Amino acid sequence: MKKRLLYYVGMSAMSLALMGCKGENATDPEKEPSLTVTQGAQKEGEEVSPTPMVLVEEDTTGTPPAIKDVYQELFSIGVAVGTHDVLQEYKLDVILQQFNSMTCGNEMKADSLLDRRATLESGTEESPVINFSRADIILSFAQEHGIAMRGHTLVWHSQVPRWFFTVKYSDDASAPFVTKEVMLSRMDSYIRQVMEYTNETYPGVIYAWDVVNEAIETGDGHERGLRTKDSLWYQVIGEEYIEKAFEYARAYAAEGQTLFYNDYNEFVLKKRFAIINLVKDLKEKGLIDGIGMQSHLQMSDPSLIDYEETLKKYGELGLEIQVTELDVDALDNSEETQAKLAKRYKQLFYTYKRLKESGEANITNITIWGLSDDGSWLNDETASYPVLFTQLLEAKPAFYGAIMDESIPLY
Ligand code: XIL
Repeated sequence: MKKRLLYYVGMSAMSLALMGCKGENATDPEKEPSLTVTQGAQKEGEEVSPTPMVLVEEDTTGTPPAIKDVYQELFSIGVAVGTHDVLQEYKLDVILQQFNSMTCGNEMKADSLLDRRATLESGTEESPVINFSRADIILSFAQEHGIAMRGHTLVWHSQVPRWFFTVKYSDDASAPFVTKEVMLSRMDSYIRQVMEYTNETYPGVIYAWDVVNEAIETGDGHERGLRTKDSLWYQVIGEEYIEKAFEYARAYAAEGQTLFYNDYNEFVLKKRFAIINLVKDLKEKGLIDGIGMQSHLQMSDPSLIDYEETLKKYGELGLEIQVTELDVDALDNSEETQAKLAKRYKQLFYTYKRLKESGEANITNITIWGLSDDGSWLNDETASYPVLFTQLLEAKPAFYGAIMDESIPLY
């Protein structure tokens, strides 16, 4: 097998440890770096001896392969990042070397952008106040380095505070909701402010928007498969909220910006059926440009056949397809499991490439949901090692699978 290249060349493991590399969910970027390292299954706060792990100081095989270059002719390759990623030099070097697209893991979601205190001070019942300070860190990094970004996400039932839906923005748990009309105005204002601000401040940076995220939940019993039970958007506005969100986004989008419907378990038959019906409708009205397949996958589920079939079915709609949040939940870091993961990644990229080349699916972007295993959202209560780089930014076998290196078997 080919010699593994380790990133970041030139920085010792000791200094990485001193920087206190931690998981996305656990990191406060403002905090002083500490000697504590969260490593894979390691518990937060547990001491790790900063034993130097061997980082290759010199690349003996020439320039390290960049996944963005491998797929340059086919689609852009993205990564989900947080503020802590772009504020740490050894991480941002890898981002710049490997990827040509980024998505904010959390910083552009409603719970990051909506500012309740400022809204109470200077907002109106129809229009909240938005605070871009966290998103600015990532957007300005993208602008400075010429990396395109996916905007994620405007309207989602999750990570949006309840007070956004209540009369006078009350955060009282029993506060009544506003009327449908007021909520539509708030949604309009929110989408307008987010799109206008980002387009004016960072022109050309955001190329695609996840306008509506995860609106299908077939288990809720709605005749069109809409999520009803835990969606305040649905409960306050009714099923019209989806089309309205796309209408507003279309009105405020910059020229060339594409609008996506994004969802997970998009390969499950019932759900796929409901998604297709929803987006067909939006397409007829000229409101949508693409489908975001989140692609949070397991090691052997879905089968490659089912997944490929899904790509083709969405492809038949004549919409763009972006794989927006790819990861594969690999539950341990053993050589055997990671070799299987590498094969899974190779099969996936092989499929993306083949369907793009044959014209069966107009895949325009593949985004990996996390830079390194330690920062992955799956590496939570239970450990997971689902992405392409280790905590020390070592390219994993999965990375070589993703670039379809010959050292990784396809079958
Ligand atoms: C995840 C983030 O990665 C986590 O940090 C956060 O705690 C929860 O959300 N579908 C989506 C993403 O559309 O926004 C989610 O991201 C993962 C599932």
